[in-house]
Amino acid sequence: MEKLIINGGKPLRGTVKISGAKNAVLPAIAATLLGQDRVTVLDEVPNLDDVRTISEVLKTLGVKVQHVPEQCQLIVDASSIENITAPYELVRRMRASFLIMGPLLARLGEAKISLPGGCAIGTRPIDLHLKGFEALGAQISIGHGYIEAKAPNGLKGARIYLDFPSVGATENILMAASMAEGLSVIENPAQEPEIVDLANYLNIMGAKIRGAGTNVIKVEGVKKLVAHDYTIIPDRIEAGTYMIAAAMTRGDVYIANAISEHIKPVIAKLKEAGVTVDEDVDGIRVACDHRPKAVDIKTLPYPGFPTDMQAQFMAMLTISTGSAMVTETVFENRFMHVDELRRMGARIKIDGRTAMVHGVDYLTGCQVKATDLRAGAAIVLAGLVAEGETQIGYIHHIDRGYDNLVEKLVNLGADIRRVDQ
Ligand code: UD1
Repeated sequence: MEKLIINGGKPLRGTVKISGAKNAVLPAIAATLLGQDRVTVLDEVPNLDDVRTISEVLKTLGVKVQHVPEQCQLIVDASSIENITAPYELVRRMRASFLIMGPLLARLGEAKISLPGGCAIGTRPIDLHLKGFEALGAQISIGHGYIEAKAPNGLKGARIYLDFPSVGATENILMAASMAEGLSVIENPAQEPEIVDLANYLNIMGAKIRGAGTNVIKVEGVKKLVAHDYTIIPDRIEAGTYMIAAAMTRGDVYIANAISEHIKPVIAKLKEAGVTVDEDVDGIRVACDHRPKAVDIKTLPYPGFPTDMQAQFMAMLTISTGSAMVTETVFENRFMHVDELRRMGARIKIDGRTAMVHGVDYLTGCQVKATDLRAGAAIVLAGLVAEGETQIGYIHHIDRGYDNLVEKLVNLGADIRRVDQ
């Protein structure tokens, strides 16, 4: 098992280039299953374990997938799909594997996927995905640890109201509805940039989707989608993580390739905390020469403050001046990083979905572990400012979602390395 060793206290300076978005590339890879007649080349594909996992899922379906990390490309030939089953071993590793259900149903009228099971950041049910498929006419059955969906006569357009704007459910339903017969209307869908990116990609393949990014999406189903190349949008959460790294270490970093429009709440909160943030068309500069001020945050679906930035922002609050409240409304049980931050000297109290963070003068390095992807990012950020050495275990969580993290941080002047335990 590998771990990360960080010697804290180095201000980060220079330029970091943001990779393609994890949460955009996973649905895009699932959507390649819809594309016929030719091979798909996805560009700006980040080099992540999650990309490898979903690629394996596609391979179990008999689809040809070639990952070329040096060129940030994934080449997919989905001209023939031989199998409709995604096994437990892969779905367990990554819940987003479930995103293949919509495309398989749409194209083949059948899909069988292992139940995802528990998850570190809450129960994360899939009821909204299934409700959407049923509304589109699919028959759902659950047994022997698998969910089977069948629509032997094809899917039919329908009006679907989502009780919560789930990102995954919106994506899955969007992909299924794109080849259903007639009009589908998705009310209260997720509005994240990754939803817009998926809709753009599907439209390039021939889908007729309007309203992605708003609170109603209309999909006029088409008979066939034709494979088309696509370039993935930059990762707003990776960008946000480096923004916080710059602010916490009292550095000055240009985050190239970041789209400021996608990360407005984090920019607003950093400014409120007294951090300098300059936006231009090619990226965002973040600089800070003092301790940030404590500011409250509350996570919400887009365009609210992203839950995927909560842990990293909390890491910054641990060394800010004053006290702040962090409220998590999107996921239950998403405070796994708190115990690890406390080990490093942070003062945090939790009451249900709220954490009260009292800023301290300094954190101290010690042995900690990444408990999930963003919790892992928060611990790395804490390690970058902690006195002495921080050793982080279970870093496979971080490898799921941060492309080249160590190299990017070293280029900015951090003292961080990966070692074999
Ligand atoms: C996606 C992101 C993840 C991010 C999350 C919220 C990907 C691959 N992952 O996850 O990084 O943290 O959005 O921004 O894009 N829910 C239900 N029923 C459902 C589906 C979801 O109750 O059928 C609940 C979940 O338990 C959770 C909330 O809705 O409390 C948000 O989940 P959702 O938006 O679906 O997140 P994911 O798509 O899993």
